[in-house]
Amino acid sequence: MTTKIILDLDTGIDDALALAYALGSPELELIGVTGTYGNVLVETGTRNALALLELFGSPDVPVFAGPTHASTRDSFEVLPISEFIHGKNGVGEAVLAEPTAQVQEKSAVDFLIESVREHGDNLVIVPTGPSTTIAAAIDADPSFAENARIVMMGGALTVPGNVSPVAEANVNQDPEATDRLFRTAADVTMIGLDVTLQTLLTYEETAQWRALGTPGGDFLAEATDYYIRSYETNSPHLGGCGLHDPLAVGVAVDPSLVELFDVNLKVDTEGALRGRVIADETRLNDPVKTAHVAINVDKERFVSEFMRRITGLVSR
Ligand code: BDR
Ligand code: CA
Repeated sequence: MTTKIILDLDTGIDDALALAYALGSPELELIGVTGTYGNVLVETGTRNALALLELFGSPDVPVFAGPTHASTRDSFEVLPISEFIHGKNGVGEAVLAEPTAQVQEKSAVDFLIESVREHGDNLVIVPTGPSTTIAAAIDADPSFAENARIVMMGGALTVPGNVSPVAEANVNQDPEATDRLFRTAADVTMIGLDVTLQTLLTYEETAQWRALGTPGGDFLAEATDYYIRSYETNSPHLGGCGLHDPLAVGVAVDPSLVELFDVNLKVDTEGALRGRVIADETRLNDPVKTAHVAINVDKERFVSEFMRRITGLVSR
């Protein structure tokens, strides 16, 4: 039996790779994409998601728009660092055809709530951007927090942040929302920088996509090369680009890719520590642990699964 999956993306180059990983995984049935802000505006991200679904041969997967900014703010503007990493269009200035499909009228929040009610345990939600939409679903329906199975990309527990000494980019956009998620959701797996900065891609792999000579292969090679170039400037010590968002999908398919640490989490929301993910001291002795943080990853096996699934998808 396949597992149903919803991706909550701020599409985004590694979000595009996460989408490709999900579509290239026969164990998963992608029932919808919800679009959040982050690397790009919601409008740009949902357009990218629609165009990518068409490029990857799944034009019938519906796309829903989430809130356009954090509930603690009035608006959202793309940060210069996001534009540097993902390009103005979110996909490294690689060209994507204008999608023929439209964003659904139903909101992302309603779609998420209805989907958890309908599919329960046979659904996994994979947010790879700010937690704003998930927190809005939690606020709108308390049973959502109890019943949703979430594997999220975000946070950094054992390593420094990537936008401040303590904050990871997705959590940094809306720390209050991630805090609400950690304090209320019954089952959250956190795929943070602890493991995603261990799973790296280089020009050697993108050359394999280019060599396919397909539209999907060309697109992924061009967008990912842009992403690798930004890592060469910002994090030359890594020797490649971080496969953040695809690793969350990888773990949704196969949790044995990572070693998990069970803990109750919170997010600091004040001062210099704003955006830091840390254990919740008030629930330290609670025998029930609601979060499972990936602290180690079988990187060789993941990168090989990543290449097998995505290359298979874009070879067609
Ligand atoms: C996360 O931030 C975004 O830029 C990426 O798409 C990823 O989800 C990494 O910190
Ligand atoms: Ca993302």
